[in-house]
Amino acid sequence: MMVEDNKDITILSIESSCDDTSAAILVNNVVVSNEIARQHIHEKYGGVVPELASRAHQQNIVPVVDVALKNAKKTLEDIDAIAYTRGPGLMGSLLVGVSFAKGLSQALEVPLLDVNHMQAHVLAHFALKPEEKRSLPQFPFLCLTVSGGHTQIVLIKDHLDMSLIGSTRDDAAGEAFDKAAKLMGVPYPGGPLIDKYAKEGDPLKYRFPKGKVDGYDYSFSGLKTSILYFLQKNPELIETNLNDLCASIQYTIVSSLMAKLKKAAKDFGINEVAIAGGVSANSYLRTSLVEAGKELGWNVHIPDFQFCTDNAAMIGVAGYYQYLNGEFGQLSDKAVARAPISLK
Ligand code: KG4
Ligand code: ZN
Repeated sequence: MMVEDNKDITILSIESSCDDTSAAILVNNVVVSNEIARQHIHEKYGGVVPELASRAHQQNIVPVVDVALKNAKKTLEDIDAIAYTRGPGLMGSLLVGVSFAKGLSQALEVPLLDVNHMQAHVLAHFALKPEEKRSLPQFPFLCLTVSGGHTQIVLIKDHLDMSLIGSTRDDAAGEAFDKAAKLMGVPYPGGPLIDKYAKEGDPLKYRFPKGKVDGYDYSFSGLKTSILYFLQKNPELIETNLNDLCASIQYTIVSSLMAKLKKAAKDFGINEVAIAGGVSANSYLRTSLVEAGKELGWNVHIPDFQFCTDNAAMIGVAGYYQYLNGEFGQLSDKAVARAPISLK
């Protein structure tokens, strides 16, 4: 398909890779609406239950798309293309968004844009709010993408040209926050609550080990085990020193994340550095990045809160650049539970 120059493109985007059902409307990379239906059912299980997530997406997807259209003051006739998350993610969750996007693209006779969720987290940096003017990351840049399922250092050479520099060997950073929270009886998802309690605590009160892995990779499973043993020996601290525990755990995770990011930036000679993904909402990670930027002369890029955790706006932005490149999806494309960042 030929892409006409200078024509504004209206994109409907769908995100359903995990437990948030989201739909957004974009005109080019400007986000006109971005709606998210969160699934609270998982809280009582202490983590996402895939079968329940899939069922909740089925319930939420039509109303969420409806609200996204209404809030953007658009109708289905305005839509030029449909972007959707093809993977990675939970298969039962992805299938809902994939099937919905394919069906609607057939009905509207508009093209499909199949988006890699991890590329989209990075491309959230290119999402603009209406009338917003700000400097976008310059290529090449590094992005630390930290979420409940992934921890990656990515080298971005162009919007759709990314390579993986490092990743976690076991638990993701968000998973480390959530598992630590569970051990302390803090409800799921524990990351935002640890962040909140840590504000009143001493980050150096307790020492936990940092994962020792070569290169730019991470490991967080040892931290979880050490917290478990520590709390078995000192269970009363959950009552008496929860803030200090949270601050110390957060300090351990964030300083590990920052150490490898600094190493990668130095070795690759890059001073344009970004963070993305749900854990990039963490206030200590955000201030640590700003501090490192001052110390090392980096230009730092921190996403707006609404574009950190899973959202359809970032899927729409990725879809927009694919549209410009003429990279369209096919009806035969299948959802993929696992996909490398380079898949596009
Ligand atoms: O990107 P995301 O919404 O979903 C995945 O693709 O996984 O990330 C969710 C993760 C959860 O582990 C959650 O605890 C973590 O992001 N998270 C945080 C904060 N906000 C969300 N972790 C630490 N501090 C926060 N403020
Ligand atoms: Zn995500």
